[in-house]
Amino acid sequence: MDSFHPHDKNHFYRAAGTAILHYVYLEKYHQAALLSFTAPFPLSSHPHYSHYHHHCMKTIIEPFRIKSVEPIYFNTAEARQLILEKAFYNPFLIHSEDVLIDLLTDSGTSAMSSNQWAGIMQGDESYAGSPSFFRFEKAVKDITGLPLVIPTHQGRASEKILFSIMGGKGKYFVSNTLFDTTRANIEFSGAEGVDMICEEGRYPTVPAPFKGNMDTVALQKFIDEKGAEHIPLCILTVTNNSGGGQPVSMQNIREVHAICKAHAIPLFIDACRFAENAWFIKLREPGYADTPVPEIVRELFSYADGCTMSAKKDAFANIGGFLAMHNEQLAQQCRNLLVITEGFPTYGGLAGRDLEAIAIGLHEVMDEHYLQYRIRSIEYLTNKLIAAGVPVMQPAGGHAVYLDAKGFLPHIPVDQYPGQALVGALYVHGGIRGVEIGSLMFGKYDEQHQLVPAALELVRLAIPRRVYTQSHIDYVSEVIIEVFNKRNEIEGLTILEESPILRHFTVKLSPIKK
Ligand SMILES: Cc1ncc(COP(=O)(O)O)c(C=O)c1O
Repeated sequence: MDSFHPHDKNHFYRAAGTAILHYVYLEKYHQAALLSFTAPFPLSSHPHYSHYHHHCMKTIIEPFRIKSVEPIYFNTAEARQLILEKAFYNPFLIHSEDVLIDLLTDSGTSAMSSNQWAGIMQGDESYAGSPSFFRFEKAVKDITGLPLVIPTHQGRASEKILFSIMGGKGKYFVSNTLFDTTRANIEFSGAEGVDMICEEGRYPTVPAPFKGNMDTVALQKFIDEKGAEHIPLCILTVTNNSGGGQPVSMQNIREVHAICKAHAIPLFIDACRFAENAWFIKLREPGYADTPVPEIVRELFSYADGCTMSAKKDAFANIGGFLAMHNEQLAQQCRNLLVITEGFPTYGGLAGRDLEAIAIGLHEVMDEHYLQYRIRSIEYLTNKLIAAGVPVMQPAGGHAVYLDAKGFLPHIPVDQYPGQALVGALYVHGGIRGVEIGSLMFGKYDEQHQLVPAALELVRLAIPRRVYTQSHIDYVSEVIIEVFNKRNEIEGLTILEESPILRHFTVKLSPIKK
């Protein structure tokens, strides 16, 4: 087995506050580039050692057994080259059976537990007043403390409803970073979305513990400039998906809450990965090492006026979402829209069985053995890549590894979409499907139709929950490293066809031959 390097937690804690100390941590972090699923610090020193002491080995095992399996269909690199050409270099247009390891998204791709499948059989499909709804409602209320719960078919349905009510021309929605569907729904309403990521979050390869934090100085300045009356909502995305799956600290949530409260701006949490974020708080934020995850989660939501949620992430559900909030008037407006777009308020866009699966998944996700394994497995892959010199976003995020495509392919200019080119190369070489999070997803055109690129050119390899084992992850790292060693052969891409909104889903591209 690869060797174990104890992780200096104290360095991490001291580093939590200041940029300079981040670099102190950075050095330590590199030294501790772990090469196995081993614990990042000796478990005997872990505050919850008593929970772990029956199996205090160095290797963190998957905390589940496999009861049902799905085949992976193997194909050749030559076949995949043809498939990619037929899909116009767009991974969303590739059939999933042609993919060996599917890291397109962690959304809706979780393996459900035997308990969730059992819950599915308990699903009551009554149109109104189903007990499945009340179990779902109780789970959301218990976990978040938010009293008004509205089920939707997925996260973006919650967003569509919320922004249809709160959005409109001349309004600004401020955030650490808005996810693509969130931004699209805001813009569709005529409003503008404004991202204010903290300074550390702008540098993909500089590690810092809470790179998902919102820049509170920028927030205050923006409110002073535009006026609070033009800012209907502040949204904190936890973890920050588009910014590398990086966590937001409790301190930052508290500060954002205080600023918003002072200006009567409601604060909503985009809560897709609330449990992963809570685990990072437990690991990295002073004062939380001994706090059980459900308590951290409760505190996190205590600063919020509401949340939007895609249950396809941290609820291990294959479909589902919800809105939850305190404000009765807003909830009523949401329910009014819900009945014309999603369904009756006790099922939203969901079947009773989905409500059951979500209710159970929301509790399961807060299991600390699960979260330890989950976050460690992402870190394991990230550290293997760092050790091989591959430019990746650092430190590891909560649900995905983010390759820095600009650093990976410096010979491809941003208007030839290096991230998308890398996605294609990973697919052809090893059958791995990832997604570009860069100028194809977020780029805009100026008046001269010149590309205004995104701040970062990333390739996200999202790891589905409880689906792949350590050997799958080892294979992924081998493929990435082999592609890295042949990176000069990769060519840029040009767009043949695109749609005006969320173009990355349907865009058609072709390679630019040298
Ligand atoms: C941070 C974030 N917000 C919102 C969404 C939208 O959720 P859904 O895909 O369920 O519509 C996603 C999905 O990927 C997400 O990651």
